Amino acid sequence: TPLHLAVLAACSIVLLCLTSVSHSAPLACENLVRPLDQLDPHRLEGRWAMVAGSLSYPPLIEQFKRRDSASANFSNITAESVIVFSRSKHLENKCYYSSYNVSLEGNRFTFYNGNITTTFIHTSCHDCILMSFDVESGKRLHFYLFSRRRQLEEKEMEEFRAQVECLNMPPPVVLDPTKELCPEETTSNPATQTDEKSETMTEKH
Ligand SMILES: *[C@@H]1O[C@H](CO)[C@@H](O)[C@H](O)[C@H]1NC(C)=O
Ligand SMILES: *[C@@H]1O[C@H](CO)[C@@H](O)[C@H](O)[C@H]1NC(C)=O
Ligand SMILES: *[C@@H]1O[C@H](CO)[C@@H](O)[C@H](O)[C@H]1NC(C)=O
Ligand SMILES: *[C@@H]1O[C@H](CO)[C@@H](O)[C@H](O)[C@H]1NC(C)=O
Repeated sequence: TPLHLAVLAACSIVLLCLTSVSHSAPLACENLVRPLDQLDPHRLEGRWAMVAGSLSYPPLIEQFKRRDSASANFSNITAESVIVFSRSKHLENKCYYSSYNVSLEGNRFTFYNGNITTTFIHTSCHDCILMSFDVESGKRLHFYLFSRRRQLEEKEMEEFRAQVECLNMPPPVVLDPTKELCPEETTSNPATQTDEKSETMTEKH
């Protein structure tokens, strides 16, 4: 039927395009590390476990490796574009928390007085978010993969490694999925208060 023919034609065009992309490295990279076209803020809501990350500044990598686990939590997602972005980090049996009011603008947000711009990058992993943290106007790049799962499929990790390679960044550090995440931050618990200093130490310098 004409419909079948049309579908067939469309499929072969897509296949042709896919094939030509895979033969041309720069194009493939452009495609692999493209920012998200559209971000549904409601999809962000809740907690995400950090699965792996790469940092462009090598001295920070050793420090990064010492963390047992890390998570991001987006909350207060309303019709307004200002949402709450919280992070936790488990390091040497302590939990460090930080929280920011951030303003979503399309596929990105800026925080820490404009020193960090975060862009959501495309990933084919269905329950992941991939964030590129551009620190101090591009001086450093932190490229972090978060998921609702603690551990991803090999295929998904391969895509992330390819993305990191496209950015010419050091091979990713994969976090140990058996290590516990920090418990939810509760304002009533003084042990779990925002630790701006620690966040500053590990992320900004
Ligand atoms: C949550 O969002 C609402 C509406 O944008 C705002 O009025 C409120 O202050 C926010 N709450 C927090 C804790 O940021
Ligand atoms: C975020 O905004 C709310 C409402 O304006 C405020 O109560 C809260 O202290 C802010 N949080 C941070 C981390 O700046
Ligand atoms: C950005 O970070 C640098 C270095 O940490 C600091 O000196 C500067 O004041 C920061 N700028 C803002 C706007 O926070
Ligand atoms: C995420 O942050 C919100 C607001 O601070 C909090 O109510 C919620 O419990 C947090 N969720 C997790 C899993 O930490």
